[in-house]
Amino acid sequence: MAKRRPLSDKRRPIQRKVSTPIMPHAKPRLVVIDTDPGIDDAIGILLALVAPEFSIAGITTVAGNIGIGTTTRNAGRLLAFAGRDDIPVFTGAAVPLSRPGPEPLNLHGVDGIGGVPLPPPARGPEAAPAVEWLAELLLKEPAGTIDILALGPLTNLAQLVLDHPDAAQRVGRIIAMGGAIHERGNVGPRSEFNLWADPEAAATVVASGLPLVLVPLDVTRRVRASREFTETLSKSGKPAAAMVAHLIESYFEAATHQESRPLHDPCVMLYALAPELFRIEELRLSVDVGNAENAGALTVDANGFPVQVALGVDAPAVLDLLSRQLIAH
Ligand code: RIB
Ligand code: CA
Repeated sequence: MAKRRPLSDKRRPIQRKVSTPIMPHAKPRLVVIDTDPGIDDAIGILLALVAPEFSIAGITTVAGNIGIGTTTRNAGRLLAFAGRDDIPVFTGAAVPLSRPGPEPLNLHGVDGIGGVPLPPPARGPEAAPAVEWLAELLLKEPAGTIDILALGPLTNLAQLVLDHPDAAQRVGRIIAMGGAIHERGNVGPRSEFNLWADPEAAATVVASGLPLVLVPLDVTRRVRASREFTETLSKSGKPAAAMVAHLIESYFEAATHQESRPLHDPCVMLYALAPELFRIEELRLSVDVGNAENAGALTVDANGFPVQVALGVDAPAVLDLLSRQLIAH
């Protein structure tokens, strides 16, 4: 990934004075997590597993940070660690819609998960292909009752839109980590990895008209954990909190750095839990599907498609919420 420039958030961050309450009494929201775990994916998945606000119908995997076999295995490992092998895993796209897939990112280690001590999967992925299972689930459940938390390239979701439009229309919301608006890209001047990995898929999802909330680098680069943050998690005595501390520690820029790399994917779950901590704007977007350095880049233009985009975040508040959710359960 391109070297990151020092952060300078020129925009006024959202300031809130009170902590967002953890509301276990509300009816849990049925979600599907579409993911390429991936260290930051793993943190988001562990948050979704402990937070009572989510009921996870299943995990669909996609190639991205590393190959499909490893991302699928890592989803199973996280569920085994959490004692939740009741949640099914479905294997999704091994390659993008219509171009070669990305090389595995060293960032996440050879096992794709930073070498942290996760158990092997308690069971393998289901036989049904991810997109077929997702379409069946959407047709079975009442329309609008399922949110998709998208943490990787959007290939599976594009396939759903293209092959099962009747099912796709029944999605409640897609909340996706991806893109960069005012922020530099992380795989090119304006390209962010998830959209760059499969620009055609990103363009299909953006143009689909499905209710899409995009959480771009403009927000995720402001959400980084300190050494103090990971120490609090480690000392909590809670297994998920301690595992997240392990994952974050494997994700520090370097031993000398006092801040982790951005917690990109957990921002999707944090937005679902506390949207009031984010500043959302509706932008009309198009996706560059060329093959040059801006492949996957987003452009704001009047002829684009309306997308709800998170452009601001109260970073201390979302980190506090992440910590409290992990330590409370
Ligand atoms: O650009 C960040 C995104 O790319 C995150 O989802 C990370 O897991 C990688 O997939
Ligand atoms: Ca990811």
